[in-house]
Amino acid sequence: MVRITYVEPSGNAVTVNVAEGRSLMQGATANGVNGILAECGGCCACGTCHCYVDPARLPDLPEPTDAELAMLDTVAAERRANSRLSCQIKASAELEGLVLVLPDRQT
Ligand code: FES
Repeated sequence: MVRITYVEPSGNAVTVNVAEGRSLMQGATANGVNGILAECGGCCACGTCHCYVDPARLPDLPEPTDAELAMLDTVAAERRANSRLSCQIKASAELEGLVLVLPDRQT
């Protein structure tokens, strides 16, 4: 299990354990975290699982694919240098303690 903290749009921080190999989107939706819609179910086709990754931890993440980068162009909230799609990030030991800040809107 990998400990991930999600900061909801309200500012409330929720820390959950996500099984290795599960996406960080799944970790949020399975635990009732507010701020991720995931309308496409994780197919990299909706952009409603947008999150901001702790900038200091960006080197720990795999590089985004071209498909993820294209979908990030469509997100509703401001796209930032640390924007990622949480459905495209799989929990792994390297991500232990990662903090994701969720944007104020997904649509
Ligand atoms: Fe749709 Fe991530 S859940 S792009």
